[in-house]
Amino acid sequence: MGLTPYHNRVNGFKLVAVFLFWLGTFTGDKHTCHAHAAEQQEPVTHGAFGLEQVVLVIQSQRNSYHARKAVERKVEIVQKAAELGQGVPVIVLLHELSDYDGNWSILPALPHLWSTYSQSASWFFFIEDETRVNLAALLKVLHRYEVQEEWFLGKCLHDNEASIIHHYAFSEDPASFGYPDPAAGWALSATLLRRLAERLQHERLKSDFTIDWKYEIALYIWEGGNGPKLTAVPEFCTEPRDNCATTFTTYLPNCGVPVSKEHVFVAVKTCQKFHSERVPVVKATWEKDAAFLEYYSDVADASIPTVSLGVPNTERGHCGKTFAILRRFLSKAVPKADWLLIVDDDTLISLPRLRRLLCCYNPTEAVSLGEKYGYGLVRNGYSYTTGGGGMVMSRVAVARLLSSGCSCYTDDAPDDMVLGRCFTSLGVPITHSPLFHQARPEDYSETLISLQEAISFHKHWNIDPVALYQHWLQDTHPRDEL
Ligand SMILES: *[C@@H]1O[C@H](CO)[C@@H](O)[C@H](O)[C@H]1NC(C)=O
Repeated sequence: MGLTPYHNRVNGFKLVAVFLFWLGTFTGDKHTCHAHAAEQQEPVTHGAFGLEQVVLVIQSQRNSYHARKAVERKVEIVQKAAELGQGVPVIVLLHELSDYDGNWSILPALPHLWSTYSQSASWFFFIEDETRVNLAALLKVLHRYEVQEEWFLGKCLHDNEASIIHHYAFSEDPASFGYPDPAAGWALSATLLRRLAERLQHERLKSDFTIDWKYEIALYIWEGGNGPKLTAVPEFCTEPRDNCATTFTTYLPNCGVPVSKEHVFVAVKTCQKFHSERVPVVKATWEKDAAFLEYYSDVADASIPTVSLGVPNTERGHCGKTFAILRRFLSKAVPKADWLLIVDDDTLISLPRLRRLLCCYNPTEAVSLGEKYGYGLVRNGYSYTTGGGGMVMSRVAVARLLSSGCSCYTDDAPDDMVLGRCFTSLGVPITHSPLFHQARPEDYSETLISLQEAISFHKHWNIDPVALYQHWLQDTHPRDEL
């Protein structure tokens, strides 16, 4: 299977953007998410059912830390259901559906969920491995909606500006389109899920790329106006409030003592034309938090200093350069560290927060961590950590990759996609953390990123990168110095 070169990827974005712009101009609806009238009413009694008619899908991940979290959540829910005495939901751990790892983006999993659970299920409810659920409150919410109808329920997020990660959709009025916050949980009625599963069997998706699955699934469901929009459910919460059916507070989990500075080796990819423009921003912001950091360029420049890897600079992907970095990381030329972080020269990152997150993961396992994207997931493609937000790999993962012989087909192939394809073929899971960001804060829902303790953002376009760093990434009282 071939990879799509970056320029196709970008042109594809533009085409989709034009198409979606056209669509967007025809949607008169100004309301992001509707609070349906049913919310003001008493429960629909003829739709009453127990928890055994709810399929609860945990968006679990294969990495051992996340798999453990998902099992904890499952055990907790089963226990609470027993105490409540209103039936026990079917609980699905998404990563257990198949060895092949495409189901994380949900759409590919829907046909399977339908064919397996259509007999018993009235509702499918999706949560993350850290989402807490109050089952009695959940049941009460679901009883409000007539299950014979198509419902897409969630906590509503929206864009404030047209966003590259959403292909600049609805650029006339980006806030007009709502999508769910996965941390708060979201639901599909079986009636809607059945139709989606059928559509997925016949209809090709418009794009091969999965960039922001929660947005893309909302677009797929809405279907240019043929399907429902997201209905906002106030009881699907993140911050705890009264009457919440769900809560989520663990954005940056507390797993104990942060990984030490010396165990994170930082590689910054740059090239001559950015030595004076971008490197000074790294130096003015986060460079000071790294114990070991090297700048890799096509040209040696003692004033920074940069290391030249002997790989010519390429305009598109950086596969040749990245593989040279991997080889150097394992060599005696640099101090031995458990973790490798590869970033672009226009990535802004909080190393203290990264080190807090990394202590959740086992460095003796092959770990690939960052913001997860997908390519061709509905037809057995692969996932990858998108490069701009920062790619984190354990030493074990780097060693497995290099000894496998998996390599770039050209120096200018997209490095992140090649790494993802290699890891997928080796069975190394691509682990997602929503704290890494391939784009700028403006490109994400403000509600979402203001709740997170973000680890990274990427790109200097139209923003002041130093101000961005100070606002979103710098801790006023760095915990590692306490
Ligand atoms: C999703 O899971 C199903 C069920 O096990 C499996 O057959 C299918 O290949 C998986 N699809 C993807 C894209 O991962």
